[in-house]
Amino acid sequence: MAFSCLSPLPLSLFLLLLLHQPFFSTANLHKTSLLRAEFLSHSTPIKDTPPTRFFEVTKPIELPKSKPCSYLVLQHDFGYTYGKPPVLANYTPPSHCPSEKFSKIVFEWNATCKGRQFDRIFGVWLGGVELLRSCTAEPRATGIVWSVEKDITRYYSLLMKNQTLAVYLGNLVDNTYTGVYHVNITIRFYPAEKKFNSYGSNSDSSVSEYHSPADLILPFSRDLPLNDGLWFEVENSTDIALKKFNIPRNAYRAVLEVYVSFHENDEFWYSNPPNEYIEANNLTGTPGNGPFREVVVSLDGEVVGAIWPFTVIYTGGINPLLWRPITGIGSFNLPSYNIEITPFLGKILDGEVHEFGFSVSNALNVWYIDANLHLWLDSKSTKVTGELLKHNSLPLVFSMESDFKGLNGTFFTSVSRSISSSGWVKSSHGTFTTNWIQNLSYSNSMVMGNNGNLQLVNQTTHFNDSVHAKMPSSSVYSSESHKKFTLYLYSNYLDQGNGTSFSLANITLGFNEKKSEAVGSDLSKSSLENVQNGQGYIAVKNHLVFRGLGSTQQVYKYDGNNFCYFRNVSSSNYTILYDKVGNTCKGRTKSHLNFGLSSRQPFRARRPFLAPSFLDNSKGT
Ligand SMILES: *[C@@H]1O[C@H](CO)[C@@H](O)[C@H](O)[C@H]1NC(C)=O
Ligand SMILES: *[C@@H]1O[C@H](CO)[C@@H](O)[C@H](O)[C@H]1NC(C)=O
Ligand SMILES: *[C@@H]1O[C@H](CO)[C@@H](O)[C@H](O)[C@H]1NC(C)=O
Ligand SMILES: *[C@@H]1O[C@H](CO)[C@@H](O)[C@H](O)[C@H]1NC(C)=O
Ligand SMILES: *[C@@H]1O[C@H](CO)[C@@H](O)[C@H](O)[C@H]1NC(C)=O
Ligand SMILES: *[C@@H]1O[C@H](CO)[C@@H](O)[C@H](O)[C@H]1NC(C)=O
Ligand SMILES: *[C@@H]1O[C@H](CO)[C@@H](O)[C@H](O)[C@H]1NC(C)=O
Ligand SMILES: *[C@@H]1O[C@H](CO)[C@@H](O)[C@H](O)[C@H]1NC(C)=O
Ligand SMILES: *[C@@H]1O[C@H](CO)[C@@H](O)[C@H](O)[C@H]1NC(C)=O
Ligand SMILES: *[C@@H]1O[C@H](CO)[C@@H](O)[C@H](O)[C@H]1NC(C)=O
Ligand SMILES: *[C@@H]1O[C@H](CO)[C@@H](O)[C@H](O)[C@H]1NC(C)=O
Ligand SMILES: *[C@@H]1O[C@H](CO)[C@@H](O)[C@H](O)[C@H]1NC(C)=O
Repeated sequence: MAFSCLSPLPLSLFLLLLLHQPFFSTANLHKTSLLRAEFLSHSTPIKDTPPTRFFEVTKPIELPKSKPCSYLVLQHDFGYTYGKPPVLANYTPPSHCPSEKFSKIVFEWNATCKGRQFDRIFGVWLGGVELLRSCTAEPRATGIVWSVEKDITRYYSLLMKNQTLAVYLGNLVDNTYTGVYHVNITIRFYPAEKKFNSYGSNSDSSVSEYHSPADLILPFSRDLPLNDGLWFEVENSTDIALKKFNIPRNAYRAVLEVYVSFHENDEFWYSNPPNEYIEANNLTGTPGNGPFREVVVSLDGEVVGAIWPFTVIYTGGINPLLWRPITGIGSFNLPSYNIEITPFLGKILDGEVHEFGFSVSNALNVWYIDANLHLWLDSKSTKVTGELLKHNSLPLVFSMESDFKGLNGTFFTSVSRSISSSGWVKSSHGTFTTNWIQNLSYSNSMVMGNNGNLQLVNQTTHFNDSVHAKMPSSSVYSSESHKKFTLYLYSNYLDQGNGTSFSLANITLGFNEKKSEAVGSDLSKSSLENVQNGQGYIAVKNHLVFRGLGSTQQVYKYDGNNFCYFRNVSSSNYTILYDKVGNTCKGRTKSHLNFGLSSRQPFRARRPFLAPSFLDNSKGT
């Protein structure tokens, strides 16, 4: 079976569906996604055309001035790797570095591919701890190249020990799908500068610990050996991934980092219509359960946190031409989400076995989920005590209005939820009380028109959370994050009635976050606005794509305390039309701000089509 980010359908099934479900089935832009990997025959590639560089717009990693020690950890060609064990490598901490302390550690993925291939989901694990969840770029006949860099300083303690590195990228190569992914993984270690402790914090003892990476990271993933990824697969709304654990009794802080990605019937969950609509119209093969999904994290059966995920669109999603070469927000480096576990330490510091569970409300097959528990240990004590003081996890407040006639209709879904907890922990640092709050709200309006061939989705998710840790007389640590995820999707399928059809899709994706963090009296604030607009179409004749176009505009604006980054970039038909980059915090001019998005209609689009590869490849035989 072939697993792509997009539509990890078994290849055989995929071809079968192709034969049996022609493009023009109504009410279901989803169906068109099944055609994904066929077609798109353009002119044959011109010899000597350089490979196209794909990229995700993101701010550069802030690096220290020290010269890094680099280490090639893995070099591998991912050919027919589907259903095979992950590729393994022995990882050892760098031994050739002048310093043994590092202030920054950066993971670098460099890859090339040529030919025709799906977008593939992949994961990278070190000692079972996931470091990166990502999607490959889709190759062209003339070749592509891309890099992903990620700051992995957070996994410091793990990186200082010998480990097994595992990479699972389930690719499938045959006469049609020819693309082999050639990959190098390098890790760069930046030595700590003198007179600076390794994490660049101040030296006020108890407080500075909050700047430091965890002392121990426990994996919540599946154990090797395996013939696929180390993630758990959650297949439906009652399915739950469970893993038992116990923690050292001297842990005084705990944060669970959760990785999620959604595939197959839930790849485009935010556009799934309600079941009553599907049933009333006798639709088969249309993924349903409505457009709301929530990843629920439980500890010993009690809900301790929720994740309302960002709508990552993989590189073959909706219209693959939209993501060439500017890829979708988060597609090369999927966001992970933090759940504060510190208030619950009192319940799990007893040396006994406990259990985390991961489930997804309304899930359809399939969600890939795993997590890492970051633990801070008290080096001056073998036993920390604690107590959970308060824990509120109210059920979802859910409402759905639905009004449809035949395949036309409107649906409005609105959901909110709040989870909070509070607990104290007594360690050699003192007694801290930690409060953790999640306030979440979601709205989705969906319109089906043109007898189900047209779909509009407008979705907004607010994902706010805060952590406040204090001693009786002072604040130790506080962080507040307000995330706002937006999605607008317009898609329309126009059948010309002569074997020719057009699939149109316009899309807007927004990832915004305002963050503040205070460690003792050291306050930092940042804001990110990252908005992507895309417009495109694909024209199909006799099941072959004969024309297609994708245009994308993105504005990325990050303001940190002493670091800012701005980029305004646009592409159409593989060509970059403009690309403005700035990194000064003050000097942003009006013309910058007026550029692009604010002056254009901020939306439009929807649903999957076809053919990842193929858009510009010569036809396979
Ligand atoms: C990875 O690719 C980037 C971008 O081309 C390049 O700057 C970097 O040197 C490459 N890294 C390695 C280790 O080759
Ligand atoms: C991987 O590294 C090797 C050796 O340095 C180099 O020849 C090759 O081009 C690199 N491949 C990629 C995809 O960066
Ligand atoms: C880590 O691996 C290296 C290389 O295999 C080996 O020389 C070293 O003894 C190992 N260290 C530990 C602590 O096992
Ligand atoms: C949900 O998925 C699990 C795991 O595959 C399976 O055992 C169970 O029967 C499924 N439940 C339903 C209602 O389909
Ligand atoms: C759905 O199927 C039922 C039973 O076959 C039939 O009575 C009904 O008319 C069908 N509805 C539509 C919209 O096709
Ligand atoms: C989240 O915070 C934003 C302000 O940053 C606010 O507008 C929104 O109402 C909050 N949402 C929830 C659910 O608390
Ligand atoms: C659905 O809407 C289209 C126009 O968008 C209209 O032509 C068609 O008759 C409508 N179908 C039903 C069942 O109302
Ligand atoms: C999407 O919905 C929000 C309210 O949730 C609204 O403010 C916005 O105008 C809508 N966008 C479009 C294009 O309809
Ligand atoms: C969550 O909502 C409560 C009640 O409206 C509010 O007091 C609290 O500040 C909010 N916290 C966050 C992180 O949004
Ligand atoms: C199919 O029909 C449409 C109009 O109905 C026309 O514009 C188009 O040229 C035709 N395409 C082909 C390939 O015949
Ligand atoms: C895209 O560019 C290619 C040449 O690079 C050209 O042949 C093709 O017509 C263009 N497509 C569109 C829809 O403009
Ligand atoms: C989609 O985008 C195209 C190109 O910008 C535009 O002409 C068209 O009006 C848009 N469609 C919708 C429904 O927004």
